[in-house]
Amino acid sequence: MKMEGIYNKLKTQLEKRLTIPEDKPEETIESSLKALWFRAAGIPKSVEFVNELPLPELSEHQISLLNQLVEQRLNGLPLAYITGRQSFMGVELLSDKRALIPRKETEILGGIAIEFCQRLSQSKQNITIFDVCCGSGNLGLVLAHSFPDIFVFASDISPEAVELTRENITFLNLNNRINVCQSDLFSAFESKDYYEKIDLIVCNPPYISSSKVAKMDPEISENEPAMAFDGGMIGFKIIQKIIKEAPKFLSPHGWLIFEIGAGQGPFIIQLIEKSQNYKRIGAFPDDNIRVIFASCSNLM
Ligand SMILES: C[S@@+](CC[C@H](N)C(=O)[O-])C[C@H]1O[C@@H](n2cnc3c(N)ncnc32)[C@H](O)[C@@H]1O
Repeated sequence: MKMEGIYNKLKTQLEKRLTIPEDKPEETIESSLKALWFRAAGIPKSVEFVNELPLPELSEHQISLLNQLVEQRLNGLPLAYITGRQSFMGVELLSDKRALIPRKETEILGGIAIEFCQRLSQSKQNITIFDVCCGSGNLGLVLAHSFPDIFVFASDISPEAVELTRENITFLNLNNRINVCQSDLFSAFESKDYYEKIDLIVCNPPYISSSKVAKMDPEISENEPAMAFDGGMIGFKIIQKIIKEAPKFLSPHGWLIFEIGAGQGPFIIQLIEKSQNYKRIGAFPDDNIRVIFASCSNLM
């Protein structure tokens, strides 16, 4: 069968049987098929990087591999885990089951982190960042990739996620500007070397209540690490610790910024206010807060 015939046959199969995940709006039937096609051709690319590219010819062996990959996708294996790639803020990253697949919604946090870095870099050289709960390293990697004078300490409690972040650091050739280590939140950084030295703490913590995690879409719960979602009984366990522990590390110009779940904003703002450690608190967007930022000083 000609390439076009194979493409159309598989597209029809996907149209009939594939449900596009709500939390990955960048995946369409066509872009999913193209990404699987490139993976079968031995040229792994994320769904966002294949759209404009012409499809390569496939050998008989590659066509049979493509059929297997389509079947895996139809059986619920997430696309990024099949292709081994996920794009985050336009940066291509390695992705596999060792860590959460970076989500489009986290690009809101990424965009705000970039704005803060731009502002910080106007008043300071050599900005130091913590990417806590780093997963595959997406946030810290994009910041280090975007600003040449930034140094990032990334950390995660999961040794598998740390391993993947390490591979991503090498993949993006950022070895001299990001360190990653295993750490329960800030525990690995409990030293005077880090106190009051960090200009930006960026974090996408687990914030879903344990009972909701148990009911998540099987495509997520059967494949992605539960630890990446589970924020304890009401979802705020990790966020509460971060709010409590971050001030010790923030430099006089420093900001804590983190993602939260839809609807959690007002309660979390109250938590920050009650802690009495922060002088300024902001939130974005106004109507359905997904990112909170807070600073312990009035400096910047
Ligand atoms: C929602 S994922 C975020 C991953 C990545 N930063 C992103 O934006 O896609 C949360 C991450 O927090 C990590 N985590 C959970 N509990 C933690 C803890 N106590 N200390 C450090 N990391 C933790 C998980 O392993 C997971 O990688």
